Formats: sequence, C-alpha cells, structure tokens
Amino acid sequence: MADTPAVEPTRQPTIDGAAADRALAAARRRYADRRPNSARQAEAAARVLPAGSTRSVLDFAPFPFRVASADGAVLADVDGHRYIDFLGDYTAGLLGHNPPEVADAVRAALERGWALGAVADDEHRLAELLCDRFPSIEQIRFTNSGTEANLMAISLARHVTGRDRVLVFDGAYHGGLLYFGAGGTALQAPYSYVPCRYNDSRSVADAVAEHGDDIACVLIEPMMGAGGCLPADPAFLADLRARCSRHDIVLIFDEVMTSRMSTGGAQLRLGITPDLTTLGKYLGGGMTFGAFGGPAATMAAFDPARGGSLTHGGTFNNNVMTMSAGAAAVERILTAEALDRLFERGERFRPRVDDVLRPVGMSASGWGSLLAIHPVPGPITGPHDLAGFDGRPVELVFHAMLERGIYLARRGFVALSLAITDDHLQTFVERLEEAVDELVEHGVVTPALSSGAPA
Ligand SMILES: Cc1ncc(COP(=O)(O)O)c(C=O)c1O
Repeated sequence: MADTPAVEPTRQPTIDGAAADRALAAARRRYADRRPNSARQAEAAARVLPAGSTRSVLDFAPFPFRVASADGAVLADVDGHRYIDFLGDYTAGLLGHNPPEVADAVRAALERGWALGAVADDEHRLAELLCDRFPSIEQIRFTNSGTEANLMAISLARHVTGRDRVLVFDGAYHGGLLYFGAGGTALQAPYSYVPCRYNDSRSVADAVAEHGDDIACVLIEPMMGAGGCLPADPAFLADLRARCSRHDIVLIFDEVMTSRMSTGGAQLRLGITPDLTTLGKYLGGGMTFGAFGGPAATMAAFDPARGGSLTHGGTFNNNVMTMSAGAAAVERILTAEALDRLFERGERFRPRVDDVLRPVGMSASGWGSLLAIHPVPGPITGPHDLAGFDGRPVELVFHAMLERGIYLARRGFVALSLAITDDHLQTFVERLEEAVDELVEHGVVTPALSSGAPA
C-alpha cells in the first residue's frame, strides 16, 4: 500500500497495564486448566498446521477450544463445555447451526451426485434468487470465497475501465489478500492502491483529484466489519456514489458482511446502488461461498456471445453443496420478514450492550445484527478513532464471557444468528455486566477515571 493516512492519538481511557497483564494471564490459565482435551488436540494439530489451524482469525491464546458439535445457537467443545454462539461464524452462520431446510436440500443434492464437472439447475436457481434481490445485480458469477469475489470484481473493473488503481479505505478488510489494517500488508494482492480515510469525503475528493484518471474502482464496505463494525455515514456514501459517477469510476460495494441488512443488502436499506457488488458468507447456506455481480452490460465481459473476452475459472464455483444449500436458504429461510426482524433485534440489542460498557469508558458500535465491543468510548467514526488502542480489556471480556458460556470473537465482534432468542440476548447482557464488574475488580479500568472525558 502507498502512503498510509496519519494515525491520530488514541482516545482510550487509562488502563492499568500491569493489572491487565495479571488478569489476562490468570484468565488464560483458568481457560487452559478446564480444557485438557482441547489443549492436547491443539498441540497435536500445531505439528501439521501452522498455529494449529487453517484460519488465522480463529486463533487465540492459549489455544482455541475444539468443537465437538453444534446445534441451533449452541456450540459444544471436546471438554464438555457449551457456549451460546454469538460469533455466528463471523456472519457465515446467520442461519444458526444445522437448519433442517438446508440439511434436507444438501442431502437431496448429494443423492443426485456431486463433483459433476457440468452445470445443474441449483446454480441457475441461486443466481435468479440473488439477481432478484440486489438492486445492483442483473447478472452474477459464483466464486469460492468473498476474497475471490473481491479479486474478481477489482479485476473486472480494471478490465472495463482500462485503468489501474484501486481506491480503498484504511483499516478495511476485504479478504485474506485484501487487508488494509495495521500490519496487514504483507500478503496484499499486488494492485496499485490509493488509501483513503473511511467516512471522510475530503480524503476521497483529494485522492480523486490527484489520481482520478487512473482509478478503476472504489472498493468499500457499507459498514466496516472486521475494522470494528463501523457504519458508513449515508451522506458519505451518497457523495462517494456521485463522485464515482462523475469520474467514471466503478463503485464496488463489498457486501460480504452487510448483505444481511435486508433482502437486498445495505444497498437496498440505504437506497444507494453501487456498480458492482460482492457477496459471501451465509448466502451459500453456510457452505463455501462467494459471488460478484452487476449490470448485464458489465458482466458481458464473461460472455463470448456478447463480445466478452474474460474467462472465469474455479473448479468449485458451482459446487453442488453450496448451490443447493444457498438456494434453499434464500428461498426458504431468508425471507424479508426474517431479515428485517433480525435487523431490528440487533438495533435494540446494541444500545443495551453499549449501556453496560459506557461506565468503564468502553463502547459498542455496529449496524443491525452486527456489533463490536471497543476499549474506547463512542462514537467511533472510522478506524482512525481506534488507532493505537490497547485491546486487552476486550480480550479480558472475551475470556470472561467464555467462562460464562458465551462465545464471541476475541476482538469483541458479535454476529447475531436467526437461532439467537431474546433469552439469549438477556443472558449476554447479564454476563457482560459481570465481565465488566470483573474488569473493575481487577483494577484494569476504573469507572471514576473513564466514565467522563477520555483521560
Ligand atoms: C467485508 C468482507 N469482505 C470479504 C471477506 C472475505 O470473505 P472470505 O473469508 O469468504 O474470503 C470478508 C471476510 O470476513 C469480509 O468480512
């Protein structure tokens, strides 16, 4: 990545670092003592898998617990612990575990055979369902992941514009090869990036003024997910939309996470239509999934009959499990009512979480059914507000919640699934109150110091 926007001073309230270290060491010890089977399996796995797993985001110290089974909203580990699953597989688990509609569809598809090396009808059905839903998508192509969908969308934009550069936002995550947060640059796909500040129209205006004729596309999440559940200001997005149109820049909405905000994603809820959209996660019914789509005229680049010259490979793009699971999920579970209800439930839940955190100078941000816990007070408008923060209080909350049978991301990320009930939400709030009390008891944070202006 080229020059990174300047990091602003942290707004974090005072944290007693020594107390945080002591509390964290004790929490990790208790965690390990109660999970001998997971410990053994983690050690054995680390001999053949770097860090013992194959998805870095799942790693945490001392070792991640091993799942024995999952059902509805509950995960059970190999040491007999049960957890209410508030992580929801980082949004891919929106349906909850093992929904029968999807299991039946996949079983039926497997009866008909898989690894076909040919096309079958579920592929066309899923495409129709998604084209009907997303305002920007007239035609769609499937991939194996959200990362791949974004790589394809960027490459398509560069092809149709004949331009080179990709405008991205500092702190954004668009996949394993498209991470623009601190320290995340080593494995970046080698495009020529123009980094801007999220929710900052001036930063975009300056970048377009300087590089406009070279910018093929803007890649943006309508809400930064991994960056901390930070929603884009609708006025910022509207300005971005207009600027892209004026300069013939392809606007790509990465809706891999935000597609859950309505049947037509964040774009439908906001009334702002991008040129291309990328999708992933739960829309494959919980199976390996990604997709990118846009106007038929643009997607014609993949259609030789319409003069297209691009090929789009991928052995498993139309794999039988994903196509059948995705079609069943969209058709039978992901109704407008179900998605709206989940959105509203999340909107009511987030302020309750924020109320618990505020007295110790922490906060919750998010949109709809996605939220993140931060070790700084709100409001947070972009990753720049989180720069240089001390993540230990959030990790302590994570361990305190695990001890109380609640699973969320170590970094404080929560994705509600359709299996989460009001009782689960109540339990979460009560356990969070206990976790915050523990932070105070251990002297990590002090309400008197941190409830007012940042120290
Ligand atoms: C916004 C966003 N884009 C892209 C991706 C990458 O998707 P995948 O993990 O399927 O490659 C993610 C994954 O978390 C994401 O959150």
